[in-house]
Amino acid sequence: MSPIRPEILALEPSGIGKVAADHLDDPEIIPLWFGESDLVTPSFIRDAAKAALDAGKTFYGPTRGHVPVREALEAYLHRIYGLAVHPDRITLPGSTMLTVMMTCQAIVTPGCEVILISPYWPNIRTVVEVLGGRVVDVRLEEGPERWHLDLGRVAEAIGPRTRAIYVNSPSNPTGWIMQPHEQRALLELCRRHGLALIADEVYHRNVLDGPDPAPSFLALAEEDEPVFVLNGFSKAWAMTGWRLGWMVHPKSLATAMRMLSEVNNTGATAFVQYGGIAALEQGEEFVRSFRERTRLNRDLVVRILGTHPRVRLLRPEGAFYAFPRIEGLADSLAFCRRLVAECKVGTAAGYTFGEGNESHIRLCFAIHPERLEIALERIRGVLDRMN
Ligand SMILES: Cc1ncc(COP(=O)(O)O)c(C=O)c1O
Repeated sequence: MSPIRPEILALEPSGIGKVAADHLDDPEIIPLWFGESDLVTPSFIRDAAKAALDAGKTFYGPTRGHVPVREALEAYLHRIYGLAVHPDRITLPGSTMLTVMMTCQAIVTPGCEVILISPYWPNIRTVVEVLGGRVVDVRLEEGPERWHLDLGRVAEAIGPRTRAIYVNSPSNPTGWIMQPHEQRALLELCRRHGLALIADEVYHRNVLDGPDPAPSFLALAEEDEPVFVLNGFSKAWAMTGWRLGWMVHPKSLATAMRMLSEVNNTGATAFVQYGGIAALEQGEEFVRSFRERTRLNRDLVVRILGTHPRVRLLRPEGAFYAFPRIEGLADSLAFCRRLVAECKVGTAAGYTFGEGNESHIRLCFAIHPERLEIALERIRGVLDRMN
């Protein structure tokens, strides 16, 4: 018998990585497969990290984050949400991805179930499965105008093994933004059933329609109930490669989070955290201009792809992804591979975002509009040739 856990032996690349793997070095491909733009992190952020490096920020530090970045986060949360979040609730352990892992480490037991609102980013499912839990999908519904969460179906999915509900808004891959009344109802449901609520808000500033920032569970959660609000620097400030994120968790878990951070990564990279301070304190202009770029790009996607007779596209309200359904498509992975082979455009296969998405593809529309337009016209061409 293998000493390796079966969950680990079963791991496979997602339908994002499977399409991209063999083509990462091909300069002719227009990459819409990953969740990032083609913009280098703004120079004022890079300069702050360089200065910290030169100032000797190269040592181990507090595993819940250096004091100045924790203070900057507290001030940032106060400024954008008008909320005073107690410092014991804030942990900055490394990437947002790591906050997903640590939160699930705190909650998931072998054999338990986590309800994951789908379509979802596949790594979330993988984290639950790596920890021996099981994901139960509750899929958003494709309404006439918007994606829609049926709370009745969430309630029906709760069983004796359910420990948590995980929701991501603004959503990757749909662009759905959860409204405050829906958040209140979901939180009430969790309270009634004694469940943890994990709110992934990493796209909180990537709002295309509606108020910025997107509605947050932070405004609703009590200080010490099992609500975990996950966030990070990657998507708002073009900092995907920095691996820096934060979480707001129950106050009583400050020590537990310190220890989880210690055994996962022993804290975020020291000098990187000072780039984070610059983003929080001076990043508003960038957030605004990036939002403007992605809003125009969203309109481009809706105009070029959304009008194709084979395509049904609900207008993304946030994040920077489109998740169109393609009429007659039965194998999303094969179709994405066809797009790479036939027109050199990289997209992600719908099946990987949960059950019921085999007719969908995901494309990230954060790149320069001129290249995006070329990519969209190429996809249209392939759709025209489909029979
Ligand atoms: C929904 C969601 N959560 C978490 C993450 C992880 O973010 P980070 O790259 O900052 O670790 C991503 C990244 O794409 C995401 O889409």
